[in-house]
Amino acid sequence: MKIRKAVFPVAGLGTRVLPATKAMPKEMLTIVDRPLIQYVVDEAREAGIEHFIFVTGRNKGVIEDHFDRMYELDATLAARGKQAEMDALARDQPDAGAVSFTRQQAPLGLGHAVWCARDIVGNEPFAVLLPDELVLNTPGCLAQMIEAAAKLGEKSNLIAVEAVPTHRTHQYGICGVGKRHGKMFEVDGMVEKPPQGTAPSNLSITGRYILQPEIFDILKTQASGAGGEIQLTDAMIGLARTQRFYGVEFEGERHDCGSKAGFLRANIAFGMARAELRAELRAEMKKYLDRK
Ligand code: G1P
Repeated sequence: MKIRKAVFPVAGLGTRVLPATKAMPKEMLTIVDRPLIQYVVDEAREAGIEHFIFVTGRNKGVIEDHFDRMYELDATLAARGKQAEMDALARDQPDAGAVSFTRQQAPLGLGHAVWCARDIVGNEPFAVLLPDELVLNTPGCLAQMIEAAAKLGEKSNLIAVEAVPTHRTHQYGICGVGKRHGKMFEVDGMVEKPPQGTAPSNLSITGRYILQPEIFDILKTQASGAGGEIQLTDAMIGLARTQRFYGVEFEGERHDCGSKAGFLRANIAFGMARAELRAELRAEMKKYLDRK
C-alpha cells in the first residue's frame, strides 16, 4: 500500500492557547525555532509523502506564505553571503506543485475538515497528521506507521496510539484492543471522548492516521457527535464495519502542543534534543528548578 498524500487539518481556532492564537494560527507557534506545522510536514516528508494538503480556514494565510519562497529574504541573505541560512530555508520548502490548500468554511469538526480534502486526495489511501501533536523520534511516527502498513493487506487502516493516564481518557479518542500482531493490534471498537469511567482502554488515538478513501463516503453523511462536531473517530467506527483498523504503538515521545503545559514541555524536549542548545538550556533550567 503506497501512501503518497497527507492531509493537515489546520483550520482550528486554537482556543486552548489564547491569546497567542488570536491573530496567529496555532500551527505557527514555534517549538525552539520552527513552527509546529514545519515539524509535521518534515515528519510526512521523511515518511515518503509526496503531496501535502492543508485544510485551512480564515486567518491562516501565513501558513501558505510559510511554504512559499520569500524573495526579499532570499535576496537579503544572498547579499549578506548567508548561504547556510538560504540552504536551510530551501530544504524546508516542499517542491513546486507538491502543496495544495483548501478551506474548511465553518468549524464543523475534524471529520468535516478531512472531508474537505476529498477531491484533492482522490481514490487512494492517505495519511492525516494533526499538527498540534508532535512525536520526537527518528524514524518519525508516520514513517513507523507506513512501515507497519507495508505488512498489511490492501484496505487496511492504521491509527497511532499511546497510553494515557485513566483520568485523561475523556480528552481523546480511545480504542479497544483486539488480537495482537507484534507492535500492532486489531482495533476492537473506538469511541470519541468517552465520559470518565467508560473508556474501553487507556489507549488514546494520537494525531496520526492512515485511512482508505472510503472514509469520505461515510464522512459525507456523518452526523455530529462529541462536542456537537462531525468527528473523524465516528466515521472510522463506520468504516471499521467493512475494513480492518490496526493500532500502532509507536516509538517516541508524544507532545500535545495544543495545551500550554504540553507546548512548554515540547520546547524543552526539542531544545534538549539540539546539540548546540543542550548545555546552555540545561544550565538555565537548573536555575529555575531551584526557584520557589
Ligand atoms: C482529536 C481527535 C481525537 C484524538 C486527538 C489527538 O481531538 O478527535 O480522537 O485523540 O485529536 O490529539 P481534538 O484534540 O481535536 O479534540
